[in-house]
Amino acid sequence: MAVFPDPGNPQTMTHLPGDGTPRAWHPPYDLRVTDPDHASDADAGAVYDAAAEAYAGTVGTDISPATEAAVDRALLAAFAEIVGRCPGARVADVGCGPGRVAAFLAVRSVDAMGVDVSPGMLAVARRAHPGITFEEGRLTALPLADHSVAGVVCWYSIIHTPPDELGPVWAELARVLTPDGHLLVAFQAGVGEAVHRTEAYGTKAGLTSYRHSPDAVVRGLSEQGLHVQARTVREPELAHETAKQAFIVARSGSSPGLR
Ligand SMILES: C[S@@+](CC[C@H](N)C(=O)[O-])C[C@H]1O[C@@H](n2cnc3c(N)ncnc32)[C@H](O)[C@@H]1O
Repeated sequence: MAVFPDPGNPQTMTHLPGDGTPRAWHPPYDLRVTDPDHASDADAGAVYDAAAEAYAGTVGTDISPATEAAVDRALLAAFAEIVGRCPGARVADVGCGPGRVAAFLAVRSVDAMGVDVSPGMLAVARRAHPGITFEEGRLTALPLADHSVAGVVCWYSIIHTPPDELGPVWAELARVLTPDGHLLVAFQAGVGEAVHRTEAYGTKAGLTSYRHSPDAVVRGLSEQGLHVQARTVREPELAHETAKQAFIVARSGSSPGLR
């Protein structure tokens, strides 16, 4: 059976050059669910630097049915519609990797830009999407002014941040969102367990991911004054998926009602 690469699941990554054709996956490294010392931001950035070309070669540089289920793509399209209600408003794809989400939004007339901790990933993103701006930054230190973006998408980019370190991430997202801004977060769902992989993405490096608890994410967002508008947890559906997938839409503002 063909197994497709999962952009949020390093277990499914290979380091074969990509031609857009989904390919069979064979585990190139050890996978353990454990609780090791976690990788820091810098560690994740270094791994993604080394793996940037391999990641793009396997996952591609655009959102596609090979890597996102129909529900996932529908949520991205819904988000584009929501942020599109403010024409010209800027939206940040944070932890953008090769810029797939930024590009998805841009073709739907959203003024999208990308941010990533990995210069290697940014180089790939700029090459693939020359019309989009990509800047270096961290989830906890975004190169964005206070209340300057109408939307933020974190598409499988919080997965390397330990659960007990997400508070500053939510605070930073709340800082940059406009008062009626919107947030979309995607991640593998669990109870906060760590998944450690050796030779991640075909590199020599190890990389730790976390399966965050949707309840804990909702709590963390609420603590920063972000109102959760929708939460979706779907079963693993694509052949490569080993965990439930969670998607949360939230918005800033003083009242929790829909806008
Ligand atoms: C699994 S990849 C997902 C990339 C992209 N969102 C996609 O769907 O293809 C995770 C990305 O998040 C970035 N990342 C991880 N931790 C980060 C952090 N603390 N700040 C900014 N980017 C981070 C990595 O460099 C990598 O590009």
